[in-house]
Amino acid sequence: MAKEIITEMKDEKKNKEEAKTRKYRILSGMRPTGALHVGHLKSVIEEWLKFQEEKHKCFFLVADLHALTTDWEESKLIRKNSFEMVKDWLAAGISPEESVIFLQSDVPEHTELFTILGMITPMGLLERNPTYKEALEEFGNKERLLNLGFFSYPVLQTADILLYKAEKVPVGKDQIPHIEIARDIAEKFNRIFGNVFPLPEPVLSESPKILGSDGRKMSKSYNNAIFLTEDINRIKEKVMTYMTDTARKTRKDPGEPERCPLYTLHRVFSPKNDRDYVESGCRTAQIGCIDCKKVLLKNMIPEIEKLQSKREEIEKRDDFVIDVLKEGAKRAKEFAQATMEEVKRAVFHLYD
Ligand code: TRP
Ligand code: SF4
Repeated sequence: MAKEIITEMKDEKKNKEEAKTRKYRILSGMRPTGALHVGHLKSVIEEWLKFQEEKHKCFFLVADLHALTTDWEESKLIRKNSFEMVKDWLAAGISPEESVIFLQSDVPEHTELFTILGMITPMGLLERNPTYKEALEEFGNKERLLNLGFFSYPVLQTADILLYKAEKVPVGKDQIPHIEIARDIAEKFNRIFGNVFPLPEPVLSESPKILGSDGRKMSKSYNNAIFLTEDINRIKEKVMTYMTDTARKTRKDPGEPERCPLYTLHRVFSPKNDRDYVESGCRTAQIGCIDCKKVLLKNMIPEIEKLQSKREEIEKRDDFVIDVLKEGAKRAKEFAQATMEEVKRAVFHLYD
């Protein structure tokens, strides 16, 4: 009996260890909406880097078809934005040798799988999608948004994920409903046509939420972001005018970092000793917000400068990004084609 328990315990330990060393297939993507900001860097890209460093099989896609769902009127910007975004990825350390970096529109299998998955996707599942409902409200039911592509956005995203049989999908919190939809569709597919797809799991970044200069969530559309490509002096200016704890009216009033939008940057850029220093200094009014911001700049600026100089290196190499994306598409396609063969075999009962 005791022996059994011990072997069971050993098994459990072994399983845990295996889970740690197991290599997963990872897929994630971003819509090319233009310059990336520090929020993207800290909450998404650094999460991707962890998977890449741990040698998981990573696919990172530029969701240029998804961008068309809302930006079709400015479609000419999408290609340019895609290239700019990939430069930021590369500058931040996403490596074309270790990861597959590609444009969604370069791999037609995404649209092919999307069509098939659409057949088993109930309309209700998409109507209930919170991001769809929110967007309708936010854009005031603008008719230009009421296109089929926007409605079926999560189905295309599901195809992105399932095409590479991704097991883990690192995303921001706002994307969780889409991953749930992907799981639902994958489950239904497997049930009807046979087991083809692993059920993808979302992986949320451990990085704390970063607020913008006005105290709202950092976002390009709120005009409150610090961009990775931004001029260093401009960044300094932005930090110096960043919103702080509004309850701290004067230098003599104690503040509360938990209420301070600027402090969210300390959380991701400053080492623990500096964070401790500004935290207690703020609470006891021993330091002012200007001092606190200077500590932040000391930590943040070198990191951004490093990224910018890497980006300059990349820009000096003619056609580098084009080549990276071409090679990425080739590698993605190999995988995607194999999955599509399997899908068609399952759906149409080929070779039965
Ligand atoms: N919808 C995601 C976003 O807006 C981008 C995306 C497209 C994505 N396809 C994906 C993310 C697949 C994860 C997996 O950020
Ligand atoms: Fe925010 Fe720092 Fe000012 Fe405190 S001292 S309110 S943490 S900027």
